[in-house]
Amino acid sequence: MGEQRLVELRDLRVEFHARRGEVARAVDGVDLTVRRGEVLALVGESGCGKTTLARTLLGLERPAGGEVLFEGEPIRYDLGYLRSYRGKVQMVFQDPMGALNPRQTVYEVVAEGLRIQKLRGDEATRVSEALGRAGLRPPERFLQLYPYELSGGQRQRVVIAGAMVLQPSLLVADEPASSLDASVRGEILGLMLELVREEGVTILVVTHDLGLAWNIADRIAVMYLGRIVEEGPAEELLSNPKHPYTRALLSVVPEVEEMEQQILQGEAPDPTRIPAGCRFHPRCPLVASGEAAQLGIEARCRTEDLGQHQVGPDHGAACHAVPARNDRGARV
Ligand SMILES: Nc1ncnc2c1ncn2[C@@H]1O[C@H](COP(=O)(O)OP(=O)(O)OP(=O)(O)O)[C@@H](O)[C@H]1O
Ligand SMILES: [Mg+2]
Repeated sequence: MGEQRLVELRDLRVEFHARRGEVARAVDGVDLTVRRGEVLALVGESGCGKTTLARTLLGLERPAGGEVLFEGEPIRYDLGYLRSYRGKVQMVFQDPMGALNPRQTVYEVVAEGLRIQKLRGDEATRVSEALGRAGLRPPERFLQLYPYELSGGQRQRVVIAGAMVLQPSLLVADEPASSLDASVRGEILGLMLELVREEGVTILVVTHDLGLAWNIADRIAVMYLGRIVEEGPAEELLSNPKHPYTRALLSVVPEVEEMEQQILQGEAPDPTRIPAGCRFHPRCPLVASGEAAQLGIEARCRTEDLGQHQVGPDHGAACHAVPARNDRGARV
């Protein structure tokens, strides 16, 4: 089991000092494990803390509490450690144009990571291999091009090649395809899945698109206002969503036709004012409809904060209305 855990976040908390002395609790008590060889999708609305969580996992933000473990060891924040850590855990940024220096050729972009990591060996061969693996073939055709000479999809592939050249164990892709059109998006997602199968790389995909997560992820973690509120195997979570927030997200995925669309009421969540009790309760359809009151749990929804409990096989949710169940699905 220990072998399976590549990265673990334990009670992770990240704060930002906002204006007027307020504190934004962007990540507010996250427990999450990234298992070796999986594609894990982190899903949630804009502003729920996904990028902050990813940046903290990468060592780019320091937690206010909790810890990040890589292969069982807490990561450290000295420069030497961080440099070697970045060789193992690589980020693929949301916007390939922003991530690429317009004055660098494809070769220079991809070689840069090798130089920072001071990796010896045949640089040119490694760069060509990485481009080929990222689907830019033959690589020689691309080496001397500049970003403006590439299509959007090719730029994204260059970014991925720049990450893969270091042969990292984990690739963190923050909205990898959001700025691309649908056909290119499919291509990139296909490429990422190939990487998982052929290179054994582990991927954390950060997206607000549950439909996209469905297409590529083995497991999905749903984030709301700084916390993971539901987590499970993609099939299970999507066919049997337990948390009302997950259900609301799922109801607006175009491929899901049998669910009635649920538009969430209430104010957009604000990490400087996290509600007491279940943080979702001010927008929760179960509370608004009186169902929580009927179940006799409304007071708990309003006052009792909660983490996830097991609700099915490998499936967790943080909702007072969902009974705890064991691996065999029996109520406990
Ligand atoms: N450097 C920062 N300084 C202050 N506040 C920040 C900073 N970075 C993020 N925040 C705040 O933390 C919260 C979470 O932001 P984050 O970017 O992690 O969300 P996200 O889920 O990635 O959103 P999106 O889907 O729009 O990318 C937001 O309220 C944001 O305004
Ligand atoms: Mg983000």
